[in-house]
Amino acid sequence: MFDQFKGAKLDYFAAEPKFGAAVATVIRADDFADSNIEIRQWAGYAETPLHSLTALASALGVAGIHYKDEGPRFGLGSFKALGGAYAALRILQRELTARLGRDVTADEIRNGALAAEAAKITLVSATDGNHGRSLAWGAQMFGAPCRIYIHKEVSQGRADAMAAYGAHITRIDGDYDASVATARRDADANGWFVVSDTSWPGYSQPPRDVMAGYGVMVREITDTMAKPPSHVFLQAGVGGLAAAVAAALVQHWGDAAPRVVVVEPDRAACLIASARAGKATGVAIADETIMAGLSCGEPSEMAWSILHETARDYLAMPDSLVGPTVRLLARPLAGDPAIAAGESAVAGLAALIAVMQDAAMAKAMGLDAASEVLLIGSEGVTDPEIIAQIMAEA
Ligand SMILES: Cc1ncc(COP(=O)(O)O)c(C=O)c1O
Repeated sequence: MFDQFKGAKLDYFAAEPKFGAAVATVIRADDFADSNIEIRQWAGYAETPLHSLTALASALGVAGIHYKDEGPRFGLGSFKALGGAYAALRILQRELTARLGRDVTADEIRNGALAAEAAKITLVSATDGNHGRSLAWGAQMFGAPCRIYIHKEVSQGRADAMAAYGAHITRIDGDYDASVATARRDADANGWFVVSDTSWPGYSQPPRDVMAGYGVMVREITDTMAKPPSHVFLQAGVGGLAAAVAAALVQHWGDAAPRVVVVEPDRAACLIASARAGKATGVAIADETIMAGLSCGEPSEMAWSILHETARDYLAMPDSLVGPTVRLLARPLAGDPAIAAGESAVAGLAALIAVMQDAAMAKAMGLDAASEVLLIGSEGVTDPEIIAQIMAEA
């Protein structure tokens, strides 16, 4: 049944993490609590579904597969809706507090009371699509101008979606990491504010807010699941999603938290490289992966500090598994729900299916008939043209 996954070339690294301070201090329980209070007040907030893929679990030989489907999140199509928009609000709040010389509340920004002031603060980011869509949406919601930098491979569909939220789009002639560098340089030159989902030395508050925002998704999961799953497979670009989820799960479940498996495209596997080196390590991207959201060669320093303490397993997977997994979710086994997932959303599930075709690897990762696996379906169909092509390749 899983012929296309048999013999898939996976790169695997087993790490030996030791829980330390980062898991509780880089994003504190208070940061997660604050984002929960704030984001649940936004118009259109609704919990996203946590699907049980029972038929697929039994076909693979695990006890359960729990798929958190972020496709419907705020109508933006991905979990990133929680991060960039929330960090935009916090930057505006901090900057307006400094400019007005008094404590500005999130309420005042949300209800437009300070619109004239917010209009003078330009928010900037590089993106491969979903973070920029969130920032553009948040900037529009809070009345700030927004500039988004994209690299040459970002699809026109994704660029148009950001422009629809009023963002000014600049396409550069390099890769994702080059777009990050250009956004920083232009922001410095013009007095704009970078709202990045990745951190670097000396730049940490916005990415911390971005990751705190992702915690809303984890709170919805921990409120729903009575018992912790045994494993969580987390796809990674710069590592912000994986680190935020790992930290929130450990803060909630402590020693009983699930085993953290980080999954990356083999064309952009900077976290497996970091795990092997024992420190944040970049890789050069020679060919762009189809998993656009995961095409990052430089890990986020902050994310790495958490993953270093929490992730047990690292997997890098080939692009060839993406199409079959998108199609399997869209046309599921009898009894399972049909799920519309994007290219980056399926990496965790694709890796799980491939691992379960290799008895030795499954054993090494402690995956067996008792395992309950949590997956984050991090995006829905954020680029309909690409998914239509994938669906047509039967
Ligand atoms: C759909 C999707 N999944 C996962 C990720 C990875 O998130 P991170 O870069 O925080 O690791 C991204 C990043 O853009 C994404 O868009």
